[in-house]
Amino acid sequence: MKLDVLLGLQWGDEGKGKIVDVLAPNYNVIARFQGGPNAGHSLEFNQIKHVLHTIPSGVFNPNTINIIGNGVVIDPVIFMEEINELKKLKVDIQKNLFISKRAHLILPSHRILDAASEASKGKTKIGSTLKGIGPTYMDKTGRNGLRIGDIINPGFNDKYEFLKNKHYEILKLYDFDYNLTAYEEKWFQGIELIKQFKLVESEHLINQYLEDDQSVLAEGAQGTLLDIDFGSYPFVTSSNTICAGACTGLGVAPNKIGNVIGIFKAYCTRVGSGPFPTELENNEGKQLRKQGHEFGATTGRPRRCGWLDLPALKYAIMLNGVTQLVVTKADVLSGFDTIKVCTHYILNKKKVDYLPYEVDEQLQPVYKEFKGWKEVITKIKSFTDLPAAFKSYLQFIEDEIKVPIKIISVGPNRSETIQK
Ligand code: GDP
Ligand code: IMO
Ligand code: MG
Repeated sequence: MKLDVLLGLQWGDEGKGKIVDVLAPNYNVIARFQGGPNAGHSLEFNQIKHVLHTIPSGVFNPNTINIIGNGVVIDPVIFMEEINELKKLKVDIQKNLFISKRAHLILPSHRILDAASEASKGKTKIGSTLKGIGPTYMDKTGRNGLRIGDIINPGFNDKYEFLKNKHYEILKLYDFDYNLTAYEEKWFQGIELIKQFKLVESEHLINQYLEDDQSVLAEGAQGTLLDIDFGSYPFVTSSNTICAGACTGLGVAPNKIGNVIGIFKAYCTRVGSGPFPTELENNEGKQLRKQGHEFGATTGRPRRCGWLDLPALKYAIMLNGVTQLVVTKADVLSGFDTIKVCTHYILNKKKVDYLPYEVDEQLQPVYKEFKGWKEVITKIKSFTDLPAAFKSYLQFIEDEIKVPIKIISVGPNRSETIQK
């Protein structure tokens, strides 16, 4: 079988966790391929509301195998907290969770470096989640990193001390106070916990599953517009969030990619700094934030809100080779008199219908307006019962981007999902 990939087409928080949970019964295996605890993937079902950071969102489906791939970076403290939270919900994932030996470790000192770097940038800060993501991927590409496979080898503690001391030297460049004793103690407890899991060369495992006709879904984190290469650099994360990242982050060849499921919100949000052409710094933006409960699942920060941006969406679809779409948070648009969609931009008096290299205030979005709808759509179960105004909004998007919308999410709960 081929590997299906599910990923975000905007700036993250598109609802990937919810949709992976919805699709999990259709797959034997769910595998995370990049990012780390900067991700916050929310799942809701029955009376449970749960946020996952490192663990794949298939975890609530008892028959699903979950894999943390080589492209992921792991903080043992956050991993341990995630396991403890799952235990409280009586989810024992020991037998169904595999961790790649090639995944890199986020050290306590990586978190400090992240915080010191951000503090030194002042107003130009990236708005990082401060989970140590950037410094960890820097050590990975700089060939200094520690990997999960190291923890079971003699000499791990020496390697740890060596890297930590290197970080201490770098920290001398910053005027930044820190103390990592308490975190370090928990970190080593987390390392002991990780040792109890199945640590594997996950590239072999995944390719074998595919060979054996088992269905595998790769779960992305962050979103295409935060990609290290194609996002609005430097206001990006430090991994390849696009579909190609699933190949390198899991060890699956490009010709083994099957469906690419792209998720977008019916509007846009962004948390952290960086350009956002359709951002609304007015009452409409406030209304979107309020109705959409747009506060970060990892940091609690208010998310910046704006209208849907079609040039940006088309860019994301091109980079990922998206074959089918999922639109989420459609319910949040109920109650607006007018809904807007950015169809193109004006730059230096010229029409631009793509997302250019430089995005600044010179780039003015041009909108097409749609009549809003008042109906609450959260309990609607079939596409035909959706308000006509909403259906014409969706039809316009589909016509513009030429990829079918297969799933419409109308609420945070697993059950609030319409399959077309
Ligand atoms: P992820 O990072 O892509 O998994 O998304 P997050 O979990 O960070 O953010 C999405 C937020 O929207 C979460 O609070 C979800 O519970 C919620 N959510 C997901 N889908 C929908 C939807 O269709 N409607 C509403 N109202 N909320 C949704
Ligand atoms: P999920 O998987 C939204 C943003 C941060 C910041 C930038 C860099 O839940 O969609 P980092 O911590 O990676 O150094 O932060 O990227 N960011 C996210 N925004 N959702 C995420 O993940 C994010 N992960 C990182 O806010 O702007
Ligand atoms: Mg999130």
